[in-house]
Amino acid sequence: MSERPKISVIGTGYLGATHAVCMVELGYDVIGLDVDESKVASLRAGKVPFFEPGLPELLGKHLDSGRLRFTTSYEEVAEFADVHFVCVGTPQQKGSYAADLTYVESAFRSLAPLLTRQVLVVGKSTVPAGTAVRMQEVINELAPCAEVELAWNPEFLREGFAVKDTLTPDRLVFGVHSEWAESQLRAAFKPIIELGTPVVVTDFATAELVKVAANSFLATKISFINAMAEVCEATGGDVVALAGAIGLDDRIGKKFLSAGLGFGGGCLPKDIRAFIARATELGVDQAVSFLREVDQINLRRRARTVDLGLELVDGDYTGKRVAVLGAAFKPNSDDIRDSPALDVASSIGAMGADVIVYDPEANDNARRAHPELKYADSLDEVLEGADLTLLLTEWQEFRVLDPGVVAKKVKALRLVDGRNILDPAAWREAGFAYRALGRP
Ligand code: UGA
Repeated sequence: MSERPKISVIGTGYLGATHAVCMVELGYDVIGLDVDESKVASLRAGKVPFFEPGLPELLGKHLDSGRLRFTTSYEEVAEFADVHFVCVGTPQQKGSYAADLTYVESAFRSLAPLLTRQVLVVGKSTVPAGTAVRMQEVINELAPCAEVELAWNPEFLREGFAVKDTLTPDRLVFGVHSEWAESQLRAAFKPIIELGTPVVVTDFATAELVKVAANSFLATKISFINAMAEVCEATGGDVVALAGAIGLDDRIGKKFLSAGLGFGGGCLPKDIRAFIARATELGVDQAVSFLREVDQINLRRRARTVDLGLELVDGDYTGKRVAVLGAAFKPNSDDIRDSPALDVASSIGAMGADVIVYDPEANDNARRAHPELKYADSLDEVLEGADLTLLLTEWQEFRVLDPGVVAKKVKALRLVDGRNILDPAAWREAGFAYRALGRP
């Protein structure tokens, strides 16, 4: 095998598309596969099917280089690549906490029968512990070449920073069963390893667990500070000051300690639930039972935000025009999966309010998921005539809102800051009834 293995990336969603493009940026020849023809057509045309800063530019650059192509053909992928990265999604199963592994199974079962020479298949999808062993069995059963091996290499990229996180990750985790597999992974990540990036070489189960443990820790940190917000609400304390003070202890640290509406997205919520489901199957549910509380604290923040708004409109949302700023689960993303902002917006809509939503990037996705809500194309439009304004995703455009300017547009000076990003004193001075989570 050449020093620079040829790479395939199976599944061109968030993770796969970013991984494919970044591997070309690192100097590899890459083929990306998706079973969704429209995704492949879009990527071939240089269009990234989701919002991710910096990715469209890199895609355009590398499509021109001829070192990146996209296909729907497993045959083409098997023929081309020495190292295959499986990057398909593992969403939450309907009606269960467990992860839906249909796409992972299907990717392995489609690829394995075509593997006629020694190659490495690398799982990148976030999966319950034990999946890698099962996928190695699928390969052993179906691959014509007996030397095909599996490795697990979890991905830690954040949406909004996907390119940076992929090109300069904090660490690489290689779950492998042989020195050969490790050497192939080292070759596939050579430029990143040369930057001095730590490499953790471990077994399959640990590699799978590193990912869910990391996301569980992050979710727990957010819910911890949101639990403190609940206590602040009962005592008159200020959770922003509290977080600032405990965060100064560098054993605790300030990051992921922003209290507010809590976490959403396609990863943290479903990963902690899948972890609970898997731990229950393994008979160690007590070890992660705290994650149920982490989930509950998180969901309670959404209900609390609905209530704060209700208090400001004197206990009745009926007919009130409610301006919702933000629909994406976080800024710099158009992802609305399990979005706290949209959850709150739709609850308030169901309580009889006339809800109008504005998000700089996620309006189209939000409209598809929640056609019952109204949408505005600009900040000016959403604020016009509002009886109540809710700030629910902390886009930069909202961080710099001027209370004097907003006051001229809205009908009533009532605001809920669901992300604790505004200065309460400035808004109150401008005449607003200002409410926030975990602050007086
Ligand atoms: C998360 C992890 O941060 C990544 O490391 C991981 O690779 C990824 O999941 C994944 O599993 O693929 P992401 O879902 O992009 O990344 O979003 P985060 O930046 O982690 O934010 C998650 C949620 O937590 C957002 O809704 C955000 O608003 C919320 N959050 C974050 C808070 O409420 N408070 C904070 O202090 C930080």
